[in-house]
Amino acid sequence: MSQFDLSRLLPADYFSHALRHDVRHGLTASPKWLPPKWFYDARGSELFEEITRLPEYYPTRAEREILTARAGEIAALTKARTLVELGSGSSEKTRLLLDALRSLGTLGEYVPVDVSESALEGAGKALTTEYPDLAVRAVVSDFTQGLGFSADSPAPRLVAFLGGTLGNLLPAERAEFLSSLRAGLAPGDALLLGTDLVKDPAVLVAAYDDAAGVTAEFNKNVLQVLNRELRADFPADGFEHHALWDAEQEWIEMRLRAVAATTVRIQELGLTVEFAAGEELRTEVSAKFRRERVAEELAAAGLRLTQWWTDREGRFGLSLAEPV
Ligand code: SAH
Ligand code: TRP
Repeated sequence: MSQFDLSRLLPADYFSHALRHDVRHGLTASPKWLPPKWFYDARGSELFEEITRLPEYYPTRAEREILTARAGEIAALTKARTLVELGSGSSEKTRLLLDALRSLGTLGEYVPVDVSESALEGAGKALTTEYPDLAVRAVVSDFTQGLGFSADSPAPRLVAFLGGTLGNLLPAERAEFLSSLRAGLAPGDALLLGTDLVKDPAVLVAAYDDAAGVTAEFNKNVLQVLNRELRADFPADGFEHHALWDAEQEWIEMRLRAVAATTVRIQELGLTVEFAAGEELRTEVSAKFRRERVAEELAAAGLRLTQWWTDREGRFGLSLAEPV
């Protein structure tokens, strides 16, 4: 086998079916909404990388600070032979884990799992050059449908889920996701989970509404995905980005607001959708956590929190958990 390969876990037509299903349901619901995985076409993945470098978007830097301080400890505690990463994107911070596990001498295989094939290809290409004797087995999948790692990857396995992406699932989806993740783990395996933490709403809102407008462009990109994939006609400047803090749910909500009354035709679905002036479409939630809530949600899924680390400013949490 070559050092890099990319496989598709789901049937070839899964993504086009799932997109049609989600758009039909979400845009005929009240209020209207879309699930966040459709942000990440090639352009969306590029824009997300730009977001991670914005001055307002602290989560990436805070999580990198924790990984820099703790990667050696994580490697020593888990002794992982396989590193699986869900929603791996560019795998940029993952290099800290790869380095620590490689110097410990345990790691043989890295399994990045993502919906974005372009992100997996870009990351895979770079990693094979940087880590010539690491097997990179990329998997294009939807982690809400299947986790992408098989029982035959060498144990112990460490499953990393970084970037606060868990918070992009709704509470019921999170519970289901964590339970199926737990079901795929054997004794000795571990989960490394990154969660953004509750803090000053002004800091949170700025992280999702940056001055340069990159997040706005990222949010609007989902409409371009619909225009292209479903022959829809969302007007390029017809919607504005809106980020708000929901203090009760403790999540940031990303919305797209119709500037004026707008009729959108989605040809592939034979569907016409009306937006009133000012009507908002929810495109994402990003839940913010406290330590107790992380521990509780893990416990409900049969996982025990064994380590909890934060950056010095206490902005972001990294948990290590094991199957009970
Ligand atoms: N882990 C990286 C990227 C986080 S952005 C970091 O910490 O910077 C979220 C990533 O998850 C993107 O790469 C996106 O393509 C991927 N993603 C989003 N929803 C997904 C899903 N349902 N299944 C698999 N990957 C998903
Ligand atoms: N997992 C990231 C987060 O919740 C994803 C993200 C960052 C995002 N900025 C965004 C998603 C803007 C949509 C819009 O922080």
